[in-house]
Amino acid sequence: MTTIDLDREALESLDVSRAELWQANAWRPLFTRLRAEDPVSYCPESFFGPYWSITRYDDIVAVESDPATFSSSWEHGGIVIFDMQDTGVQLRMFIAMDDPEHAEKRKAVAPAVTPSEIAKLTGALRQRTEDILDGLPVGEPFDWVHNVSIPLTTAMIATLFDFPWEERDKLPEWSDWAAKIDIGPDPVLNAERERHVFEMAARFREIYEERRAAPPKADLLSMMAHSDSYGDMDEQRFIGAIALLLVGGNDTTRNSMSGLIDQINKFPDAWAQVKSDPARLASGAATETIRLQTPIAHMRRTATRDVEFQGKQVSKGDKLVLWYNSGNRDEAVFPDADRWNPARENSRRHLSFGYGIHRCLGARLAELQVATLVEEMARRDMEVKIVGEPERLPSCFTNGFEHLPVTVSRGDG
Ligand code: HEM
Repeated sequence: MTTIDLDREALESLDVSRAELWQANAWRPLFTRLRAEDPVSYCPESFFGPYWSITRYDDIVAVESDPATFSSSWEHGGIVIFDMQDTGVQLRMFIAMDDPEHAEKRKAVAPAVTPSEIAKLTGALRQRTEDILDGLPVGEPFDWVHNVSIPLTTAMIATLFDFPWEERDKLPEWSDWAAKIDIGPDPVLNAERERHVFEMAARFREIYEERRAAPPKADLLSMMAHSDSYGDMDEQRFIGAIALLLVGGNDTTRNSMSGLIDQINKFPDAWAQVKSDPARLASGAATETIRLQTPIAHMRRTATRDVEFQGKQVSKGDKLVLWYNSGNRDEAVFPDADRWNPARENSRRHLSFGYGIHRCLGARLAELQVATLVEEMARRDMEVKIVGEPERLPSCFTNGFEHLPVTVSRGDG
């Protein structure tokens, strides 16, 4: 594992975006320091250029509450630390648009994820969770990411899109490539990314046209195909819309399911409590996991004018990185913040789903998936032990696991 000498890091040039910090899971002390000593701090130089770090909970909420001053638009660079203009595939997603276009497009897909629509998915979701858990080897090491987190999330996304079931293994591959927005200007990697993204777009375009020619149904693609605000989208917007729903639902929920195992290994007593009373604690266990894992570590905004923020002079065009991983550990809001506490009263206030007009559209669905996994593990009296070094992603955006070696035991006979 990389060793990072935190004492030698000078505050004025602290660059928390470095991939190795995330891969080594070594970012916590740096953010603790920023929150305490320089909560709105300027990093003059990084792989992604200069950026502001916003690290306290209230400041993140303040920035997200003022979308006119702090824009999400791809025209200014978009919603991640890497400028979207610099990539071949720019992904014009509504997450990277300001109102009114954002609101219009959000409204068109929102009906697919209302509580009543989600309720219709619960049976299938539970069944798939049960099938996957019951197929796991007992007492033998395996990779939780590839045997549980990925297949379970992929099944859910395929159901939401009503994507051909036999082709579903393509979804995580496309999603992973679409999400690689922090690869920088590397031409080889960008060409590879484009290839996957265009393949995804071509297949989705075919299905989209089929749905458009057929009567409306309740899946996401049919809803988009029959909505006025999607209708005839240009190619960049089409790719963006698909990639948003794919990445939005894929890597995030997957990494929550892996993060759950990380937490129950760190807090076995709390896991024992959840198992003894899942009806009361499963939903808190899911929320606490999503808070502490923070599968999307940051969103970015760009200042549309010169503005003073918390005593700092932010200039028009500056990028502000909202570190949700840090806001979620702000002791002013979450006492004993590093503790996974399924009974925590205000856990739902976490920032992992963002805040304000762009707050995650799939939040309820994601919580339901993770809570269902917790319930079914509890019902089987499952213990999942990490038996090797977890391999983490080298990314300050998708905060998660490549591999998580575990063994499973069951107390239910
Ligand atoms: C644990 C799982 C998830 C996490 C951590 C997560 C995180 C996020 C975050 C941080 C945002 C941006 C919020 C902001 O800018 O304030 C977002 C937006 C969004 N998410 Fe999720 N997400 C998850 C699951 C899902 C799922 C399952 C779906 C799809 C069904 C989804 C679809 C979306 C969409 C469409 C947006 C854009 C909303 C907008 O711009 O108005 N997400 N999500």
